[in-house]
Amino acid sequence: MATALIILAAGQGTRMNSDRPKVLHPIGGVPMLWHAMAAGDSLFPETTVVVTGHGAEAVEKAAKTHNPEAICVLQAERLGTGHAVRQAMPALEGFSGRAIVLYGDTPFITAETLERLAEARADVTVLGFEAADPGRYGRLVTQGTALERIVEWKDATEAERAIRLCNSGVMAIDADLLAGLLSELTNDNAAGEYYLTDVVGLARARGLSAEVVTCDEAETLGINARSELAAAEVAFQARRRADAMETGVTLLAPESTFFSFDTVIGRDAVIGPNVVFGPGVTIESEAEIRAFCHLEGCHVSRGATVGPFARLRPGAELAEDVHVGNFVEIKNATLDEGVKVGHLTYLGDAHVGEHTNIGAGTVTCNYDGVSKHRTTIGARAFIGSDTMLVAPVKVGADAMTASGSVITADVPDGALAVGRARQETKPGLAVKLFEKLKAAKARKLARR
Ligand code: UD1
Ligand code: CA
Repeated sequence: MATALIILAAGQGTRMNSDRPKVLHPIGGVPMLWHAMAAGDSLFPETTVVVTGHGAEAVEKAAKTHNPEAICVLQAERLGTGHAVRQAMPALEGFSGRAIVLYGDTPFITAETLERLAEARADVTVLGFEAADPGRYGRLVTQGTALERIVEWKDATEAERAIRLCNSGVMAIDADLLAGLLSELTNDNAAGEYYLTDVVGLARARGLSAEVVTCDEAETLGINARSELAAAEVAFQARRRADAMETGVTLLAPESTFFSFDTVIGRDAVIGPNVVFGPGVTIESEAEIRAFCHLEGCHVSRGATVGPFARLRPGAELAEDVHVGNFVEIKNATLDEGVKVGHLTYLGDAHVGEHTNIGAGTVTCNYDGVSKHRTTIGARAFIGSDTMLVAPVKVGADAMTASGSVITADVPDGALAVGRARQETKPGLAVKLFEKLKAAKARKLARR
């Protein structure tokens, strides 16, 4: 059956005390909205509608970055969850199938849970959870396995407040049925809002079926304050560490490995202590990332080793068996198979051919203060320690540069380039110079 996602993201998030719309605060390096959208993507929705309100423009931009086909509709006034969903319905004109309602501030719903919800057979299915502390959640009033209605805390009797089965807010319902029921909603309740939750009672009054699918409370965690955002980040990291280890990645100190939303790590890769993965990182099988590395927007191939203390920035592409050692920074550069960059080096806007060795202290001088320029180094070359490669410049295959060279002109294949002043050696001069310097210091002390 076709699926449409409706994601509610109009809320201001007053308790965040922020100029930034709540759903744009990041978890795992990306807006929390993306987490809900990504979980929904697992249902292969035909249409995704995001209901925006507070900070609509920024929320729309973020939603479209994740899914360019997402339709954003504005809820100009915040009159309740039912009213919010109603704003989405015109965007579903002509859609027939099941609508799934999610919240943009509930990032931990899993794809598996949504799949279970989508498979449910009732006319209306609500995702519920047994709350450790039911607090002010809406309560699910059931009779046997059937869901009778949802009662909001504000409107509930003492007996209803004693119910521990709570509403997560996630709901699955036929889109046409939803449109019909929404038109029957009133705001005659304690909050004076149009409650989405009332569609359950209305469906039952029509003799239709409603049921509850349950999930772990952790999945329904909503974020309303900075402390909850911090707790959500902790929960996200814990989940990603566990997932990585389950899929065969060795984490030498799991609590110090930090993942992004989209980090991909292959089986039998080894990750040392204190490694941070920014967005856009792929590490292939059997690669090793040693302690204290920071990686972002890069790809590390099978068998490569990185670090300790290395930084891979966006566009760093390491082929198989590349070795990048300590205090090396790589940006927008491709290193072909077997390249070695052992120590203290910056490679930016560069291409390095296979099995080339880059000596300690090499720098691609890629920026002239106005524009960036490329450095191209061929295969099997040897770049001597402390070579400055003043881009744009090319060093050919099987070529060498002498240590300490400043390379400003292209070096042909197989050539040796020496770009430094010739050494002069003066016998005995060091001893004389020391004596002179010591005498000068002694005179200075005597004058005090
Ligand atoms: C809602 C449910 C409650 C459930 C709880 C779970 C209703 C009436 N109540 O209550 O049963 O236990 O969620 O967290 O649905 N939103 C809009 N526009 C609006 C109102 C809300 O976009 O006009 C969005 C919010 O930004 C948020 C979500 O809908 O993402 C839920 O709204 P919120 O005000 O937090 O609902 P609760 O009162 O917590
Ligand atoms: Ca809430």
